[in-house]
Amino acid sequence: MHIQTYDQLSEQVALKLIATVNEKPNACLALPTGKTPLGTYQTLTRHFRQDPALDWSKTRCFALDEYLEIKESDSFQTFLLEHLYQKSNIAIENTFSPAQVVNYDEVIEQMGGLDLTLLGIGRNGHIAFNEPETCPVSFTHCTWLEKSTLDANRSDFTGKQPDKAITVGIETIMRSRRIILIASGSSKRDIVKQAFSGEVTSRIPASFLQRHPNLQVLTDFGFSLDTTNSWQQSSSL
Ligand code: GLP
Repeated sequence: MHIQTYDQLSEQVALKLIATVNEKPNACLALPTGKTPLGTYQTLTRHFRQDPALDWSKTRCFALDEYLEIKESDSFQTFLLEHLYQKSNIAIENTFSPAQVVNYDEVIEQMGGLDLTLLGIGRNGHIAFNEPETCPVSFTHCTWLEKSTLDANRSDFTGKQPDKAITVGIETIMRSRRIILIASGSSKRDIVKQAFSGEVTSRIPASFLQRHPNLQVLTDFGFSLDTTNSWQQSSSL
């Protein structure tokens, strides 16, 4: 289906997540925060309400990143709790945050590795909080946030805005068996084009994903990419 609206994008992604868990109930999912996946989580919530057979009780959910020195109510963990975990039958003991787990990558490996990583993209091309110039062979690490990232997220805070975070690395993401990156709205158009139609460069961390054999990029502005079935690009960028 050709995605034209944010609602269609959200529905498509939610259905892919549901299919993944139907196939493997104890799947390991890596999940983003931010405005882009909100629709996906709302759609999932609706499916959970309407379909009592939907069972994510064994599903393991790994937050991609977390702010450091953050008021709990402003944290990504609270975001995921409010928008997804509490709206489903995901067991809280199956949810993980890099700020609460020592050796996040090791824990992920011990649980069998990530089956699906869902990503948004920052305006500067960051994925999770891997800011420009992050080394591609990076695992979970602490990082300073760039000014453009701080500016984009400023309105999310009731307390002081942190400028440090902990994030899964590029390599953590690349080891995921499948990756779906979603982007919505014209403010993401240019960076998506640069990341997926241009050279692979550490200046645009998302561009490293071009090397992943099972990547789908889904947007509501006419760009899509699927490295599983060779390159497809329907684009009016
Ligand atoms: C944030 C998060 C990312 C997210 C990105 C885009 O800073 N760390 O995981 O994908 O920025 O956010 P949004 O979807 O709100 O544009």
